[in-house]
Amino acid sequence: MSQVTNLPQGTLSVSHLLGIDGLTQEDVLLILQTAKAFSKVNDRNLKKVPFLRGHTVANLFFEASTRTRTSFELAAKRLSADTIQFNASTSSLKKGETLLDTGRTLEAMNPNLVVVRHSQAGAPQMLTQVMTGAIINAGDGAHEHPTQALLDAFTLMSHFDRSSEEGLKGLKIAIIGDIAHSRVARSNMLCLRLLGAEVRVAGPGTMLPQALEQYGVAAFTDVDEALESVDAVMMLRIQKERIAEPLMASEREYFRHFGLTVKRLAKLPEHAIVMHPGPMNRGVEIAPQVADDPRSVILQQAENGIAVRMAVLYLLALGQQNEHRGTR
Ligand code: CP
Repeated sequence: MSQVTNLPQGTLSVSHLLGIDGLTQEDVLLILQTAKAFSKVNDRNLKKVPFLRGHTVANLFFEASTRTRTSFELAAKRLSADTIQFNASTSSLKKGETLLDTGRTLEAMNPNLVVVRHSQAGAPQMLTQVMTGAIINAGDGAHEHPTQALLDAFTLMSHFDRSSEEGLKGLKIAIIGDIAHSRVARSNMLCLRLLGAEVRVAGPGTMLPQALEQYGVAAFTDVDEALESVDAVMMLRIQKERIAEPLMASEREYFRHFGLTVKRLAKLPEHAIVMHPGPMNRGVEIAPQVADDPRSVILQQAENGIAVRMAVLYLLALGQQNEHRGTR
């Protein structure tokens, strides 16, 4: 197994990754630089490095996932870690076991790193009370999805060939859709602003949260206005699983007023890219032709998720090692 070149020095200021909230700009840049070094591993024939040999990564998914679950599993395996794949639907949660008792049970198996997705905001934070490994939030309710925002930032930095010094300064990025119920929107607003981007959010008034000014973003209910002269547009799914009452007349109406249609794509600056964290609802927030357009980087986002999650696992494990040695 060959090693990785250009791996940056340094450790994170945190022992867990619970959100972008709590990270410094230096933390974010360290993760992105480390991910850049690991992305070269994913281009090799032999996609494996020994950094987490002897470590155990537990993937605890209490909510459905395709991209995050598979890329965390692949990231752990590419770093040579052992993995525990916990699936809520086939676990003893079905027999009434609580989240904390599940955490205590898995803690007895001594995992070093614990990846958690849960429908309740704060569930990863709760697990820090009963587990000693580093906890990584893989999406908790409408709260945060930090590794999604990091992989989105990585995609933007790579596409626009930005250095750490430049960050995302001068780029205009629009996030469109159900901002109020989206953990991706919240983590992205924090992360993109930390890297210096100008961020606009747009959607129906019923899908825009209160107190957006705390994020330093501009809010619009007119999508066409929000899309003027942007460098990137990030489309979001309506988070139906977190909405009790319908917040729009129909999906057809929603698409017409807020969707990224072929006509809207044609009006974007030529260099602008289209992003979506997935899963997509084609014909609701994005036209099928736009999703498959050459300017769409949606599949690159999914690919970049592996390198970014390798970086997060590696850096948190490095922090644990330094803590044991007393060098942190
Ligand atoms: N973007 C994202 O979190 O996708 P999954 O729900 O498939 O993991």
